[in-house]
Amino acid sequence: MKKSVVIVEMGLRDGLQNEKTVLDADTRVEFARRLILAGTKRVEIGAFVSPTWVPQMAGTAEVVQKTFALVKSGSIPKKTEFSVLVPNERGMMDAIASGVKEVAIFAACSESFSLKNINCSIDESFKRFEPVMALAKKHKIKVRGYLSTCFGCPFEGRVSEAKVVKLAQRMHKLGVYELSIGDTIGVADVGQVESLFRKLKKVVPVKKLAGHFHDTRGQALANILAAYKLGINVFDTSLGGLGGCPYAPGATGNVATEDVVYMFHGMGVKTGLNLDKLIEINPWMAEKIQHPLPSKVGKVGRLK
Ligand code: HMG
Ligand code: MG
Repeated sequence: MKKSVVIVEMGLRDGLQNEKTVLDADTRVEFARRLILAGTKRVEIGAFVSPTWVPQMAGTAEVVQKTFALVKSGSIPKKTEFSVLVPNERGMMDAIASGVKEVAIFAACSESFSLKNINCSIDESFKRFEPVMALAKKHKIKVRGYLSTCFGCPFEGRVSEAKVVKLAQRMHKLGVYELSIGDTIGVADVGQVESLFRKLKKVVPVKKLAGHFHDTRGQALANILAAYKLGINVFDTSLGGLGGCPYAPGATGNVATEDVVYMFHGMGVKTGLNLDKLIEINPWMAEKIQHPLPSKVGKVGRLK
């Protein structure tokens, strides 16, 4: 097993998209700044989705522009990689105009969730990716892929492994550089994670697979460990365990970045993140969104 993992910070997108308090662009830029100064190397900084559907992500262009200005001024390191979520060609055009060099596309593994989340079937969503991928090629933009509801759907229940594997192959063929496997409603257990990732590794190179676990049922750390033991080295996490998906009823936040970092550092696995600095962000963010964050380590800190 590799002695280091890559953490992709979701707080600014998957985290904030489900919060009642909508944060303005300056607060989101400050959040990004604090995360990056805590060592974050990859950040999903926002989403070019419909502001009618997800008002929390309105102002993403301003967040990108102001964060890039901080990079330019040398206030935050140049090495940070920023990505934005795009559902269609319109979102991709906005992403290109903003100057980002990476986008993330997303498809569901269940028809009902696809309809509720992006108002179209799974097949239609893949059709929408075609112009997005063509624009990405033209503008030399990296594309990450997500598959949602890989372990269960809030409307249809269990999702078959065969369906997820087929869609993973389809997404991989599109040319995404990484494929993040989403437990959107935090329903997966270790048995399911081992079984699905073993099958996925046969169709997508393991280096290209990432795990995206929500912690709704408290299984996310165990699931990450199970995936890590199968060779998965990239994990999506959210500072404090913020958020969830507004179109997945009952879904809570991604697994907390602090909790994941605590676990890996305890095992001697490097994350490149500074746990104390991450913990410092926790009360600041709790004040901004006006409620405590679910992270365990973020709340009590570590033994000094
Ligand atoms: P729609 O209403 O079907 O769109 O929404 P439409 O094509 O009919 O257009 C309606 C209006 O929206 C038009 O404006 C379009 O221009 C505009 P009008 O002519 O009426 O003035 N529009 C847009 N505006 C801004 N940005 C755009 C855009 N596209 C069209 N990109 C749509 C379809 C996909 C836009 C909508 O359903 C949407 O934005 N959905 C996003 C939902 C979302 O962000 N969900 C959360 C992210 S997914 C997730 O959290 C899961 C994940 O974390 C992994 C996991 O946990 O499993 C990734
Ligand atoms: Mg998610």
